[in-house]
Amino acid sequence: MPQIRAAITALGRYLPERVVTNADLEKRVATTDEWIRTRTGIRERRMVEPGTPTSVLAHKACQDLLERRGIGADEIDLIIVATVTPDMFFPATACLLQDKLGARRAWGFDISGACCGFVYAFTMGAQFIHTGAHKKVLVVGADVMSSIVDFEDRATCVLFGDAAGAVLLEPAGDDTGLIDFAHEVDGSGGEYLRMLGGGSLNPPSHETVDKRMHYLRQEGQHVFKYAVRKFAENSAAILEKNGFSGADLDLMVPHQANIRIIEAAQQRLGLPDSKVVKNIECYGNTTAATIPLALGTALDEGRLKKHDLVLMAAVGAGFTVGTALLRWSGVAWNH
Ligand SMILES: CC(C)(COP(=O)(O)OP(=O)(O)OC[C@H]1O[C@@H](n2cnc3c(N)ncnc32)[C@H](O)[C@@H]1OP(=O)(O)O)[C@@H](O)C(=O)NCCC(=O)NCCS
Repeated sequence: MPQIRAAITALGRYLPERVVTNADLEKRVATTDEWIRTRTGIRERRMVEPGTPTSVLAHKACQDLLERRGIGADEIDLIIVATVTPDMFFPATACLLQDKLGARRAWGFDISGACCGFVYAFTMGAQFIHTGAHKKVLVVGADVMSSIVDFEDRATCVLFGDAAGAVLLEPAGDDTGLIDFAHEVDGSGGEYLRMLGGGSLNPPSHETVDKRMHYLRQEGQHVFKYAVRKFAENSAAILEKNGFSGADLDLMVPHQANIRIIEAAQQRLGLPDSKVVKNIECYGNTTAATIPLALGTALDEGRLKKHDLVLMAAVGAGFTVGTALLRWSGVAWNH
C-alpha cells in the first residue's frame, strides 16, 4: 500500500464541434446506420477540421481542467500525454502542450498505450504522487483518430472519433484515490491492430503512401474476442485481489470500443446499467481520450460521489490491457 494516495482532483475535456453521424458516413463508404448501431452501438462521433493536431485538443482540455480547479499552469509538476496520434514523432506532444499551457515548472513525456494509454498514464502519474516526488501531475488522453483512419475502409472508419480529456492527480490526504492497478501486454496480438507505415520499419515513401500504410488496420474479430475475454477476466481479478466483488463496485468506467464488449463485461460482473458508464453512442472510440470523457459523462449524470468505488478498464492495440481501481475523491463540476 503506497504511503501517499494519488487522487483525481480535477477533470477537463474537449470535444470538437463537428458532429459526424452514421448518415454522414453512409455517403462515404458502403455502410448503413443500422449496421453501425447494431454492431457497435455508435450513432455519431466528433471530428476536428482536417489539420488540427492533437496538442490543440489536449490544450483545450487542460485549460478546461485548470479553470475548474482554479489553479494556474505554473503549478503543474509533470505532464503525461497518452496518444497514438502525436502531432509528430518528436518533440513529444507533452512538450508542445507544456509550451501552449505555459506550464513553466513542468517536465513531461508521451506514452503510446493505444486504448489503454490513459489508464497506463494515470497509474504512471500516480507513482510520482505516491513517492512524494510531485504534488500536481497532469494526465492527458488525446487523439485525433480521424488523421489515421482510412475513409475507404468501412470496417474501421465508422468506429473512431476525436477528443481529449485530462485529469489532475494530487495527494489525496484521506483514503480516496488509486487503490490498485493491474496491467498486461500480449505483444503477440500486435498484428491485429496497427499502423504499419511511417516508423523505422516502413519509413515514409511513395510506396507506403500508395499502399495506404499510414492508416490504422484492424482485424476486428480477433480484437473483439480478446477484448471481451480480457475486460471481464481482469476486471473480476482486480476486484477479487482487493477483497471486492461486482456488488461492491459503484461505477465501472470502461473503454468505449464496442457496446457489445462493454455489455459482455457488465454481464460477467453482474452489474446493472446504473453502475456502468456508456457514451459510445455519441463519441465512438476516442482511443486515449475515452476514459476521461467517460468520467465526464458520469459527472454530468451525477453518478460519482466521494468514496465511490470506481473501476477503469480498457483493452487495446498491443494487445494492451489496463485496469485501475480507485475511490473517487470528488472534483468541482458544473457542465
Ligand atoms: C469492428 C467490429 C465492429 C466488426 O464487427 P464484426 O461483427 O466482427 O464484423 P466482421 O468484421 O465479422 O464483419 C461482418 C461483415 O460486416 C461487413 N462490414 C464491416 N464493416 C462494415 C460496415 N461499416 N458497414 C457494413 N458492413 C460492414 C464485413 O465486410 C463483413 O461482411 P462479409 O460477412 O460479407 O465479409 C468488431 O469486430 C469490433 O468491434 N472489434 C473490436 C474493435 C475494437 O475494440 N477496436 C479497438 C481496440 S480498443
